[in-house]
Amino acid sequence: MTNIIDGKKISGEIKDEVKEQVAALKEKGVTVTLAVVLVGNDPASAVYVRNKKKSCEYCGIVSRSIDLPEETTEEALLDVVKQLNEDPAVNGILVQLPLPKHIDADRVLRAISPYKDVDGFHPQNVGALSIGIDGFRSCTPAGIIELLKRSGINAEGRECVIVGRSNIVGKPMGMLMLRENATVTIAHSRTKDLPAVARRADILITAVGKAKMFTRDYVKPGAVVIDCGMNRDENGKLCGDVDYEDVFPIAGAITPVPGGVGPMTVAMLMKNCVDAIALNQ
Ligand code: GUN
Repeated sequence: MTNIIDGKKISGEIKDEVKEQVAALKEKGVTVTLAVVLVGNDPASAVYVRNKKKSCEYCGIVSRSIDLPEETTEEALLDVVKQLNEDPAVNGILVQLPLPKHIDADRVLRAISPYKDVDGFHPQNVGALSIGIDGFRSCTPAGIIELLKRSGINAEGRECVIVGRSNIVGKPMGMLMLRENATVTIAHSRTKDLPAVARRADILITAVGKAKMFTRDYVKPGAVVIDCGMNRDENGKLCGDVDYEDVFPIAGAITPVPGGVGPMTVAMLMKNCVDAIALNQ
């Protein structure tokens, strides 16, 4: 029988844990504050940011919104980041991506203090992850580790194939799965015979952004399938990178879209905001 990995339920548990930690900090007179910077009018980003703010409210984290117009210059945005870095009341800073084309996103992400970088995108945190020292972990990969652990799935010694090599998901996912002692392959658009490589996986993690690309041809029977995709199908309906209907009958366990990886990203962001309090000291 295929096990559906319920990201909505597990993310709810994590948010409840965070809520308790936030309340305990409040008793000690400490307020957790996340600054959320949104530049421009990207409708998808507006939805993501709204969800993040809603979760902050649920957990008792103060969210401070900085909404800037599309034509904001890179220098002006860097100035906002600098002010937030220097503001002792702000524990976490999140600059929603993508940024408008005229802004160098890498430069902006590098400008965020690594001690407030709750997205885990700063090179210092990326480096910390790769050598296994304390630092913020990128939220989606960290959320997938929690999904696996809380579903009783042990990655040790198992073949893990990650498809996608982005800085946000694929690469940090590889590092985290290595730390779980999995044997890791990171496949991508230039990989030869991707279905054959994907079929090696005991744990298959897809992060390519292509609606329903992964049919059962890519999946070994009994494999754990983790779908990071957030796409629209031909009818405009939300769907993942995995063709869920096709893969479900042969998978051992699978994350749905929506309700799988997505809510975990936000839950881990909340967790990072609380962890920021200790890292800010
Ligand atoms: N855009 C898409 N995913 C993310 C994310 O995890 N963090 C930020 N800041 N922007 C994103």
